[in-house]
Amino acid sequence: MRWIKTAVIVLGLTAILAGCGTTTATLDGPTRISASTEYHHGEVRRVPSATGCVALTFDDGPHPIFTPLLLDILAEEDAVATFFLVGDRVQRWPEITAAIAAGGNEIGNHSWNHAAFTSLGADDIATQLSSTDAAIAAATGREPSIVRLPYDAWSARVLALIERPVIFWDVDTLDWRYHSPTRIASVVAAGARSGSIVLMHDIHSTTISAVRPAIQALKAEGYELVTVSRLLSGQPCN
Ligand code: NI
Repeated sequence: MRWIKTAVIVLGLTAILAGCGTTTATLDGPTRISASTEYHHGEVRRVPSATGCVALTFDDGPHPIFTPLLLDILAEEDAVATFFLVGDRVQRWPEITAAIAAGGNEIGNHSWNHAAFTSLGADDIATQLSSTDAAIAAATGREPSIVRLPYDAWSARVLALIERPVIFWDVDTLDWRYHSPTRIASVVAAGARSGSIVLMHDIHSTTISAVRPAIQALKAEGYELVTVSRLLSGQPCN
């Protein structure tokens, strides 16, 4: 499965954030910083105050084969991650969704059917989010508190409609394009800093193969693997 990436938008946002050097930034008002509250109109790429912490994130699951394999690796490595799940896949594989949560991992909302929110009206965006919340809650007993937008498709209008932290990333493994475990693990090891958010997808076998070496490289550098909400707390890991 190939996701179309909006490279121009990524570069544009990178340019915006490069100038402010903060955890969050607004597109339509003054920059706001908050560890755990008031993320309206805000997006998160990295939480520098969470020194020694790194958050691995996996999008587009659950996958019936690869997600359980990944959960085993995380447990063996004594690590947790954050999974941005697609609602119609949660509905199809609720038991895998429950296993993600049972492992101490975080679950985030990645829309109902991987829709590009920039093409949707406010009502449709609300439905995408609420139906996915409901499916995740039915499987785990808990609604997600964070959102990631499919295709990196964002706008000021879309962000303003989402009353939750919208989680981007500062380390993009491009694992959907380059199916090389060695390359993926190298990008993680070379790119991760304190408070980094690493983007991967647990729908590719090559990504799963990269996770253990990536985690071991990060641990060797002294990093602790934590969930995104743990990062957002702003508390250091060391
Ligand atoms: Ni996605």
